[in-house]
Amino acid sequence: MAKKIAINTGGGDAPGLNAVIRAATLAALNRGYEVYGIRRAYMGLLGEDEVIPLTRDSVRGITHIGGTILGTTNRGNPFAFPLKRPDGSIEAIDRSDDVIAAFRQRGFDALIAIGGDGSLRIAQDLYKKGLPVVGVPKTIDNDIEGTVLTFGFLTAVDIATDAIDRLHSTAQSHERVMVVEVMGRDTGWIALFSGVAGTADVILIPEIPYSIEKVCEKVEERDRAGRRFTIVVAAEGACARGGAPVFKDPELKRFGGVCEVLANEIAERTGKDTRAIALRHLQRGGSPISYDRLIALRFGAAAIECVDDGDYGCMVGLDPPYVRRIPLDVAANRQKCVPVDGDVVATARALGMSFGD
Ligand code: F6P
Repeated sequence: MAKKIAINTGGGDAPGLNAVIRAATLAALNRGYEVYGIRRAYMGLLGEDEVIPLTRDSVRGITHIGGTILGTTNRGNPFAFPLKRPDGSIEAIDRSDDVIAAFRQRGFDALIAIGGDGSLRIAQDLYKKGLPVVGVPKTIDNDIEGTVLTFGFLTAVDIATDAIDRLHSTAQSHERVMVVEVMGRDTGWIALFSGVAGTADVILIPEIPYSIEKVCEKVEERDRAGRRFTIVVAAEGACARGGAPVFKDPELKRFGGVCEVLANEIAERTGKDTRAIALRHLQRGGSPISYDRLIALRFGAAAIECVDDGDYGCMVGLDPPYVRRIPLDVAANRQKCVPVDGDVVATARALGMSFGD
């Protein structure tokens, strides 16, 4: 009997999600399987009854389109499902059994769960409860262990690099300090890669706590050398030595605002005209660049090979020139941080860029 495969996308979107959906769907249909998309992570199985058949038609022409045709949410963890009480307060309840029951009732044989670390942890927990699941890592943050790259990351780096390029001319004209905040949560991959590629003067990443004195020293050193503008790229999770990251919403751990904090301190200490620019969700929007499409298409096809082999509880990951299978718990329980002794950091230092340390 033909296998019935379900696909969902969870957490924040990333350019390349549609390419995974297309590749997995076509690879499955070409083997004679049936394919279904669960809308908005697990919500489509939790009472909203939003499960759609995925056909050749539904995945036609979507490789280059950003976002996800299945929709996504980062508020639908079935193990801590938000239930609104009559008094308006929110209680987190465990609805994982409901997900598994709905999955079985629909006769699904396998789930391809495309998501970041949070979604992969959910996938791992569902696997432990008996759900046959294959994970596909996704995030612009590139912070998932077990894969050299996640799709979406290089697209975000390109967008940030383009912004840094553009800021150079206006910073130079006005002799200003520009502080650009990029995403990445607790890791500095986007800041490091875009900062080096975009020729930033200061790169601040969570893996290397900064001292504001050192940051200002760099600004002043450039001024003395006649370079009267400075570009600072700060990861949203960048943190002063002995300090704490800047959150927009500390309870939900939503980062945001470090560029304002830095810009104010730099302006106060150096007297320079300083501006703060947060790129935020611009980094997640639009078409994936070609390499991200390739990673995504390879992941989608490889996930169906796992289903073919009955290999569940694993995640596909890039280990060039191969796509390998990694136990889900590796990805789910460890975060991939920027290696501070790696060659990209060394290259930045060799070029005279400062990490504020
Ligand atoms: O994990 C991806 C990411 O874009 C982070 O870089 C960022 O901190 C977060 O998601 C933003 O989340 P939201 O879309 O919920 O604001």
